Amino acid sequence: MDIKALVSRMTLEEKAGLCSGLDFWHTKPVERLGIPATMVSDGPHGLRKQDDKADHLGVNESIKAVCFPAACATAASFDKDLIRGMGEAIGDSCQHESLSVVLGPAVNIKRSPLCGRNFEYFSEDPYLAGKMSASYIQGVQSRNVGTSIKHFAANSQEHRRMSSSSDADERTLREIYFPAFEISVKEAQPWTVMCSYNRINGTYASENKWLLTDVLRDEWGFEGYVMSDWGATADRVLGILAGMDLEMPSSGGVNDAKIVEAVKSGKLDEADLDKCVERILNIVYRFTENAKPETPWDQEAQHELSAQIAAECMVLLKNEDAILPLRKDDDIAFIGEFAAKPRYQGGGSSHINAFKTTSAVEAAQGLKVTYAQGYSAAKDEATDAQIAEAVAAAKQARIAVVFAGLPDAYESEGYDRTHMRMPECQNRLIEAVAEANPNTVVVLHNGSPVEMPWLDKVKGVLEAYLGGQAVGLATVRVLFGDANPCGHLAETFPKKLSDNPSFLYYGGEGNRTEYREGVFVGYRYYDRKEMDVLFPFGHGLSYTTFEYSNLRLSADAIDDTGTLTATVTVKNTGSRAGKAVAQLYVAAPEMDVLRPVRELKGFEKVHLEPGEAKDVSFTLDKRSFAYWNETLHDWHVVSGKYAIQIGASSRDLPLCAAVDVTGTAALPKHYDMNSIFMDILADPRAAEILKPFISKAASALTPDPDEASSAATEAISGEMGAAMLNYMPLRTALSFSGGQVSEAQINALLEALNQ
Ligand code: BGC
Repeated sequence: MDIKALVSRMTLEEKAGLCSGLDFWHTKPVERLGIPATMVSDGPHGLRKQDDKADHLGVNESIKAVCFPAACATAASFDKDLIRGMGEAIGDSCQHESLSVVLGPAVNIKRSPLCGRNFEYFSEDPYLAGKMSASYIQGVQSRNVGTSIKHFAANSQEHRRMSSSSDADERTLREIYFPAFEISVKEAQPWTVMCSYNRINGTYASENKWLLTDVLRDEWGFEGYVMSDWGATADRVLGILAGMDLEMPSSGGVNDAKIVEAVKSGKLDEADLDKCVERILNIVYRFTENAKPETPWDQEAQHELSAQIAAECMVLLKNEDAILPLRKDDDIAFIGEFAAKPRYQGGGSSHINAFKTTSAVEAAQGLKVTYAQGYSAAKDEATDAQIAEAVAAAKQARIAVVFAGLPDAYESEGYDRTHMRMPECQNRLIEAVAEANPNTVVVLHNGSPVEMPWLDKVKGVLEAYLGGQAVGLATVRVLFGDANPCGHLAETFPKKLSDNPSFLYYGGEGNRTEYREGVFVGYRYYDRKEMDVLFPFGHGLSYTTFEYSNLRLSADAIDDTGTLTATVTVKNTGSRAGKAVAQLYVAAPEMDVLRPVRELKGFEKVHLEPGEAKDVSFTLDKRSFAYWNETLHDWHVVSGKYAIQIGASSRDLPLCAAVDVTGTAALPKHYDMNSIFMDILADPRAAEILKPFISKAASALTPDPDEASSAATEAISGEMGAAMLNYMPLRTALSFSGGQVSEAQINALLEALNQ
């Protein structure tokens, strides 16, 4: 289809009309020109296609579909191929259902454990979120179905989500809140991007030209269209100017009329509108020209796929005395309502109408497993009778497995949590069961970290997250050793909420939230503070053991235009097959810029038979070493020795090697009267110019050698003096030289320095 030619045949009204939805889920058709309507649907971990009553909060019914594990779980797989496979399955389902775009992945950074939508988001780490997101997008789009990476950007809270301004400095945005989008655009070119509800430093994302055009398109090369989050459009004309192409859902023609009026009155150049229309039509036709409604959708097969994925995501947090795996001939008590009715997804727009679910109790049929309800999630209570029944069941079993976590109401789109605790009744139940049976294991269903006051009293903890409709099947496979746990935490579990770096500022004041912790989000903060955490980022145990050895770097020194390859040998030293997640972190040397202690810059999941060893390689480039420099408005590498640390979690890094990295970009330098001596001396070229000036100034200050002990001499020559000189601005040469150094001399010096 020649899109430009098509646009040239459209009337102004048709073009304005195309820039908003037909209804809740469709783009507008233009029958006169044969332009078809296309349908979009949530997402991201399954389809929420609504045939009848539409809503964006997951309230009304949608078609029966397959609910895959949510992003909180899939991120923990650290497995790019796995999530690509999930994307392929979702892409096939979209083709079957004639959906042009699935609304996801959701990649916002987990700034606080409190965000109501954390379960839908991947990680506190932007690199991990970006790599998982890019693979998901590649999977879906390999089926000629689009994705809508969301919510762009800095949408890390639900509180006042449609009006709040996320106020962060550019370095924080570039290093923490943008890279998941940037990596996805550069590596996977999503067909669409969904802008967020919130404002960024005062400007709504939906009318933020810097965000949607300068950064997204001009810098990163995004080629698709931007749609608004549902109801995120404020000023529609500003939106067109900013590059926000499609308003969703329909605003009943009100905003279309404003676009027409703006073009007629000359406020808006029609060429800007044409660009939006072209971008939307490109994607409309990319889908319709490749539509394959005959694609089969085998939901039973996807149920099994979803179980396999869920098993790869579970994180074994604790396994004292190798309490897990359970033996199949053991007497086991499953306790807690989630064993019979798992919580497998979160609330809101990602809510899937699962065509079936498998609970752990169902999956354990045929095994020697008893069940006691323990608590009611809906009522959020555990009666004395329920606890007594649970304790009796625990006493009769060799091992008690308590299924606990967060009930639906505790976390959802639309509002944030107010604390990090599990329901009190569940904590009480776990304590009672653990007292009745020392061999107690806890399985957790939650989308975000929780406090674990009972942790020392139980022998095992399996974090199953919100693992999709087949989570019960996956849990039983992992508990009984048919699957070996291989998930690792994509987020830190702090000991308590107030340890979290955003604790003081999260939620903000009125309509403004300051991201004052800057780049120190998650482990970047806990490591810098040397703080104890409950479980660190990257942590995850296995039923086997792995050994990391033989770290080799391709070079001892590189400059920032080159690449470095790090290779490590990972060996399965236990007696079961399993998967390791080799993690590579880069630690910057001490420098003027405040940097995190280490940052994740590579990860690979590797399957190993017992005794087997494999080499794993990582390629590092400039971005692996760089920070965002606000003066350069670019990534910058400070020359120095960087440590490459490799291991099984952010706090288990047995291997380390150093590489000398030379930064090739010079920082622009300009000196004036207020520049301090230390900064000038740190710049080798400037230091050469400054040194004779210092000697001259020094002799001016010490005319009589007999006065060597005078304060003036000390101010120039002694160690203490040198330190004081460090922080003095050039202008002080005037006041401290008693008139010996003239302003003209300083100006001449500045001229030489600034040449
Ligand atoms: C959510 C989006 C979702 C959209 C459509 C909004 O409320 O923020 O993530 O895709 O609704 O349901």
